[in-house]
Amino acid sequence: MREIEVFLADTHGGHKLSLLNPDTILFDDSNFPAEDPTPKTVSLGAVQEWLWECYQEDIQFVLDLAGKSRINVIHVGDVTWGNRHPEQTVDTSPANQARIAAANLLVWARLRQVKSIHLIAGTGSHEYQYAANDLVVHYLRSGLARKIDITALRHALFRVGDHTFDCSHHGPTPGGRTWLEGNELRYYLRSAMIGEILRGKTPPRVYIRGHYHTYAKEHLEIRGAEGREMVASDIILLPSYCGMTPYAQQKTRSSHTLDCGLVAVEVRDNRDVQIYPRWRAIDLRQEVDL
Ligand SMILES: [Fe+2]
Ligand SMILES: [Fe+2]
Repeated sequence: MREIEVFLADTHGGHKLSLLNPDTILFDDSNFPAEDPTPKTVSLGAVQEWLWECYQEDIQFVLDLAGKSRINVIHVGDVTWGNRHPEQTVDTSPANQARIAAANLLVWARLRQVKSIHLIAGTGSHEYQYAANDLVVHYLRSGLARKIDITALRHALFRVGDHTFDCSHHGPTPGGRTWLEGNELRYYLRSAMIGEILRGKTPPRVYIRGHYHTYAKEHLEIRGAEGREMVASDIILLPSYCGMTPYAQQKTRSSHTLDCGLVAVEVRDNRDVQIYPRWRAIDLRQEVDL
């Protein structure tokens, strides 16, 4: 058995600086049911054009890696932008934001190799308190001719052969200072692993988290329950497909870099997992000669 697991997060459909499939159709249902909802096409801004290009490149990267192997896609939260921070939204209607999120994921769902899509709950204020995910599942299912497994989950433990993947949206920060990068991840990972071992369980092979729109990864090996064998886990913070929104600018205290991409993991029988991060960082500062 060989399989590719794709992890992406923070696509924030519905914001003008977030991932937007150019083929998305929205509906103006403000006069519904008096009139039939009117279909609306979308037009992409410069950041969205760039994000869509990155997304296409990353999907191709996964397809090349997968070859004939099957692919599972796991979206680790914040599939929509929500309406708590309405500045720069494409549309504040939950249905239209869910349509955008579904159109972004349909690109995967329509690939022959993709056998499932799972949505992990993100930040409540970005997902209409999780209502968006159920809507996205509905739109994905209705947009597909074939049947694949599509679910909305809160905190998942995926099992693939001998390996498990622990996926939730919130987790440790990447670190607020360059010299502290990774520290929080390691403490969080060590605590999670020891907790599992104390309960007599094997820690998940990989912990996946989102929310910070920043790529980071740490690896730990500690003694297992028997005290002799070593057990290994990785923790990954996912980059996003989202530009620097005014909210993100404030939250990141004006970070000048933006990480965009995904992480693919190859799982094979009788072998350890192989992790393939696929992302780029861009410098957002405007250089000005005075
Ligand atoms: Fe987010
Ligand atoms: Fe979030």
